[in-house]
Amino acid sequence: MRPQNEENDRLEENDRPVERPNAMERRHFLKTAGMTAGLATFLGPASFRGVEAAVSEISDLTPQQAARDEGLWSEVKQAFTVNRSLINLDNGYTCPSPRVVTEAVVRYIWEQEQGPYGLYVQKARDQESTVKRSLARLFGSSPDEIALVRNTTEALKTVLYGIPLNPGDEVLTTTHDYSSMVSALRNREKQEGIKLVQAPVPLPAQSLDDLVGIFERAITPKTRLILVSHITYTTGQVFPVRRICDLAHRYGIEVVVDGAHAVGQLDFKVSELGCDYYGTSLHKWLSAPKGTGMLYMKRDHVEKIEPLYGPARSRRYNPRTSMLKYESVGTLSHAPFLAIGEALAFHNAIGSKRKEERLRYLKNHWAERLQTHPRIQVYTPTAPEMSCCIAGVGIDGVDPTGMRDYLWDEHQIQTSRGRYDRTDSSRRWVRISSNLYTTLPELDYFCDVMEDVASKGLPEPYSGYGPAED
Ligand SMILES: Cc1ncc(COP(=O)(O)O)c(C=O)c1O
Repeated sequence: MRPQNEENDRLEENDRPVERPNAMERRHFLKTAGMTAGLATFLGPASFRGVEAAVSEISDLTPQQAARDEGLWSEVKQAFTVNRSLINLDNGYTCPSPRVVTEAVVRYIWEQEQGPYGLYVQKARDQESTVKRSLARLFGSSPDEIALVRNTTEALKTVLYGIPLNPGDEVLTTTHDYSSMVSALRNREKQEGIKLVQAPVPLPAQSLDDLVGIFERAITPKTRLILVSHITYTTGQVFPVRRICDLAHRYGIEVVVDGAHAVGQLDFKVSELGCDYYGTSLHKWLSAPKGTGMLYMKRDHVEKIEPLYGPARSRRYNPRTSMLKYESVGTLSHAPFLAIGEALAFHNAIGSKRKEERLRYLKNHWAERLQTHPRIQVYTPTAPEMSCCIAGVGIDGVDPTGMRDYLWDEHQIQTSRGRYDRTDSSRRWVRISSNLYTTLPELDYFCDVMEDVASKGLPEPYSGYGPAED
């Protein structure tokens, strides 16, 4: 049995968004209870209710105004258990979970380990249906259009390997799409004679029209599938997915979206995108437990996409029509999947749009300062429709791998290894991705270090790195 205590009761309540009081009712409750920001702190800085109370205090602000309300974000920061002896600007890899999520995983593991697994698994599946309903509500789909999988890799490779293609068929993607997805398509090129086409991404893109244009120019009568990142892993460029889907569908081309970075970072519904397939990692911007992801597919496509691990036979579902076939990967721990519920409750308590605006605000805080420096290039446009929290930044003549190692070794600032624009090797960058728990002083310190390197260069041995290292 799941241990009962006050925190669990609260979380279970919060897992059922339909039954939760609306913002006005909550505000009323907090006001009549005499609750102020001070009292929110009294509830305990790491408490989930502390975050809800702080949000309630600013509920009359627009999301853009709320993004600047340091009182709110101070409360949110305390909900994480991150290591403050370093500065983590590599949240694009995965995002740490808030305490409520980590504690939930542990609770669910204890329950699972009571055994026997056979009895537990049915209950876990039932509870996963509840999680799926909440997830589908956030994502804007029906629960039976999504499958819980382990990550974006599993979600997208299911589609990229499963979709029937003939020799000569073309799959169109970009030079900034994720290398492991590109490798899957390269494998099909070698084994089945399909053709992979990678359209070059302008760096930085001047407008969303530019980004639609690269697809428009590369489509041919043989194009069958487009793979596009909702947000690129390279520079955090946001792609106009709706427009690309509309374009593709005019030619009868299906679109698979790599949404690794978009769910939990951007406020959107899949119905607004109109894509055929969507894969994401919930352990990234939703801060769900590691090893959790989601695959979405339009109902009409389910029959033709075989699961990665072969056709499934089941008494539980119809493998022709059910997304459950993509969840059939053998025995696994259900604890991380159940705790997606707590990650959703935490995310919903903040609100998708508020979170998106805060993440964008943090990126702009450092990017707008650094881009005024004559030797520093920010490779990601700051226009709100073009980017959110992730951006690429480089210093003229400074190798990004050296820069990344220097930032970590000498300043304990974790960033992601930069890369080179293969069409112009003078353009090099590191990728910066902060998160809700990042403080403005941490970003200011990062800017100080970057400006210092821009004026003095990197010291030895970091200055010796070159393009050959990439
Ligand atoms: C754009 C993009 N797609 C896919 C992936 C793979 O994600 P995962 O390792 O969670 O499967 C990543 C990982 O960073 C990514 O950045």
